[in-house]
Amino acid sequence: MTKNVVVVESDPTSHYYSHNAARLAEEYDRAGDGLLPLIVKICPDESARILDYGCGTGRDLARLHDRGYTNLMGYDPSPEMIVAGRAKYPQIENYLHHELTNIATAFFDLMICSAVLQHIEAGKLSAFLKKLTSYLRPSASSHLLLSYAIQWPGYEKEPRRVFLHSPAEVRLALHELGLSEFSFTTSQDSLSRAGREWGVGVYGTPASSLTAAP
Ligand SMILES: C[S@@+](CC[C@H](N)C(=O)[O-])C[C@H]1O[C@@H](n2cnc3c(N)ncnc32)[C@H](O)[C@@H]1O
Repeated sequence: MTKNVVVVESDPTSHYYSHNAARLAEEYDRAGDGLLPLIVKICPDESARILDYGCGTGRDLARLHDRGYTNLMGYDPSPEMIVAGRAKYPQIENYLHHELTNIATAFFDLMICSAVLQHIEAGKLSAFLKKLTSYLRPSASSHLLLSYAIQWPGYEKEPRRVFLHSPAEVRLALHELGLSEFSFTTSQDSLSRAGREWGVGVYGTPASSLTAAP
């Protein structure tokens, strides 16, 4: 008698990060300080509560910790990325988590979400941003910092699933959640990958203390 066998295909994005975590910890570290100057500008308070959502191996949190920031947390759905991050940056090992159960919503002064949106398909972008912003403390001094791919030649051929979102789509989705864009810049890829370009936006409530960028 032939048994029915159900083969569960794992998600290619999870598979990619799980199987490349140790290599990516080294590669992402070479991205240098990246968002750090902007983070320090929008959130100079070293005791601010900061959540890096999709933190990968924790590069940005390690940099913040080394600058004196004390209230840090990183979440990434890949357990292997978290393990690789703890090994790479032992100084923040206790800040890195692969689950968000027991994490209070409406709690963080700054949410960072760097290089994650490209894994969210268009139909799920609004729900993803809604979840993200639910962790933000409703305050005039709270901010969301997004860095997301806007140009990625050959993204369709990636082994992980990649989707590009335009700045207008992201802006609109956040506007519908009550957040305004305070600044938006584009930046070249910090790892010099050909043709890749990133949008970097800072968002908050209209009453935010942050001055809108010219
Ligand atoms: C390109 S890495 C960026 C890591 C880190 N933020 C950085 O800037 O170096 C993308 C990360 O997004 C995570 N990720 C993928 N889908 C996600 C989701 N739906 N929610 C949160 N993180 C996700 C992956 O596990 C991976 O670690």
